[in-house]
Amino acid sequence: MIAYICAVTKSFSPSRGIPYLRRPMMTYPPHHFPLTGTGLQSSTAFDFSAPSEWESYYKEHSEILEWHSSIPLDRIASYVSEMRIDQYDKDQQEQRSSPLSVLMVGCGNSRLPATFLSSCPDCNLVLLDTSQTCLDQLREVYGTSVEYVCGNAVQLDRLFGDTIVPDPTLHPLQPQVVSTTGRKFDMIIDKGLSDALFCSEGWNGPIEELYRTASTVLNPHGRYLLISYRLPSSTQTFLTEVGHLVNLQWEFHIPLDSNDRVGVSMAIKVGE
Ligand SMILES: C[S@@+](CC[C@H](N)C(=O)[O-])C[C@H]1O[C@@H](n2cnc3c(N)ncnc32)[C@H](O)[C@@H]1O
Repeated sequence: MIAYICAVTKSFSPSRGIPYLRRPMMTYPPHHFPLTGTGLQSSTAFDFSAPSEWESYYKEHSEILEWHSSIPLDRIASYVSEMRIDQYDKDQQEQRSSPLSVLMVGCGNSRLPATFLSSCPDCNLVLLDTSQTCLDQLREVYGTSVEYVCGNAVQLDRLFGDTIVPDPTLHPLQPQVVSTTGRKFDMIIDKGLSDALFCSEGWNGPIEELYRTASTVLNPHGRYLLISYRLPSSTQTFLTEVGHLVNLQWEFHIPLDSNDRVGVSMAIKVGE
């Protein structure tokens, strides 16, 4: 099994001024990740944080690559179902006629959308990934029952904000401006995306931007559901600090659904 090494250093966030320790030296995916048959066992290291590498991967492989398969998909989908009957739902739904809106960031070709659609057929689902090839494959499966956005999840405000800010560096990953402008979501689901971003050199910047911009596109009391490898306490501290700045309040590793390798964590958007 190949080890993919993530860098370690003491780091500093210039935009926010938060000093913190970066994640300790780790291998990625952890040694227990079942890479057999995925095509990710190449002789060269796969940079999980690089969209271009994922695009190449999906061009060569169309078989399902299910991240964190130890967490049942129906349990993940149940977080949305539960949202429809809890207090948030009672308060919000009475005042609005629109169904719950859910965004899957770094959706890949997981089967989660299928599970989600059967448990929550009246919800709006948007699938976002940087890989156009992956999205094209998904379109063959899900047709018009979901929406597809090809773009970078660390710039969700650019993708869905009220004012689209064109970014030439994003080409050819520009969003379809007409359909995405001014969108807000009740839940964002991240299964494996943050894990991938943690592998970048200086992951703190992209991770901070992911959560900052996610908060801007969440409705009040909206939720960010994170399914990731269990987070070291230093990473939890970092995410908590970022959360304080961007109005996201974290609960890490929810016992009901987390296991010894994978954590199911949730951030709620609190008052601004
Ligand atoms: C580890 S896979 C997880 C796939 C899927 N969510 C699952 O659970 O199996 C990470 C996915 O994130 C996508 N990705 C990587 N960087 C991204 C970024 N900055 N913005 C959006 N998607 C990204 C990749 O193309 C890949 O499909």
